[in-house]
Amino acid sequence: MKKLMGIAAAGAMLVALAGCAGGGGAASEGPKALDELVVGFAQVGAESGWRTANTKDIQAAFEEAGIELKFSDAQQKQENQIKAIRSYIQQGVDYIAFSPVVETGWDAVLNEAKAAGIPVVLTDRAVDSKDTSLYVSFLGSDFIEEGKKAGLWVLDQYKDSTEKVNIVQLEGTTGAAPAIDRAEGFADVIRQNPNLEVIESQTGDFTRAGGKQVMEAMLKSNPDIDLVYAHNDDMGLGAIEAIEAAGLKPGEDIKIVTVDAVKDGMQALADGKINFIVECSPLLGNQLVDIIKTLNEGGTVEPRIITEETTFDQEQAIEALPDRQY
Ligand code: AHR
Repeated sequence: MKKLMGIAAAGAMLVALAGCAGGGGAASEGPKALDELVVGFAQVGAESGWRTANTKDIQAAFEEAGIELKFSDAQQKQENQIKAIRSYIQQGVDYIAFSPVVETGWDAVLNEAKAAGIPVVLTDRAVDSKDTSLYVSFLGSDFIEEGKKAGLWVLDQYKDSTEKVNIVQLEGTTGAAPAIDRAEGFADVIRQNPNLEVIESQTGDFTRAGGKQVMEAMLKSNPDIDLVYAHNDDMGLGAIEAIEAAGLKPGEDIKIVTVDAVKDGMQALADGKINFIVECSPLLGNQLVDIIKTLNEGGTVEPRIITEETTFDQEQAIEALPDRQY
């Protein structure tokens, strides 16, 4: 945790005037006035409360900074994101930022941006490109760490259990960095107790409807589920609906651990229907604006900026809810 805070603090500063990843673009021609800058942002979609909060935060930060932001919603389809990025390249924007729906398949379009001299910033999710010169910086959470935090809570909850604990996992979008990493971090930790077993794992695509549908099917095929690990709040909230419809009590008959800590998730935690939430912050707008401003001034930025995050149990959710922004 201490280490994470340290990295986050360094990330918050993020403006390094020398070394690190190169900026390119505006730097060589001198800085542009902020109201002359144009940034193209290719968003994943509007699949979750987290995503809506992320979009609002980014749009508000650019508006406040007086920088034009072109925005596109890919409706969770990689081909739509690629089209949007190509269109930003054609329009000759100064910078491109995007949150890649999946990890693979970005090299071609990122090479096109590079050839056009347009620096790219990744927000929220990573790409698996070997060539890290294809983007200037990656700003977002450590999803493996998030999965580990969820696993640690489960490990502690069942430390005295001598019986098998049946866990079902509601995965995020197949191939997306948070789905891959949250599963990996969780598995890495729970393997310390052989009683903890993930008996089924299916994608709910990070949506509430997906979480509900998958949970309904899981309840039918597994009569003895002890715990749900959902890769985001929305799928956990969908699972709550399915569990209640099956005549069971979420949070008691079946425990629920989720990731995000958006308001609806936090309310369910405060109400005892979710048992633990690992925070994933969607508030990336100001940090993204700082990156763009730094590059515009010819500075360089850290290649990896990790978001500062915490965890919540019921009491902490009750305390945090009144001031929760999203
Ligand atoms: O990439 C971040 C994840 O994407 C959030 O956890 C989830 O809610 C969103 O859809």
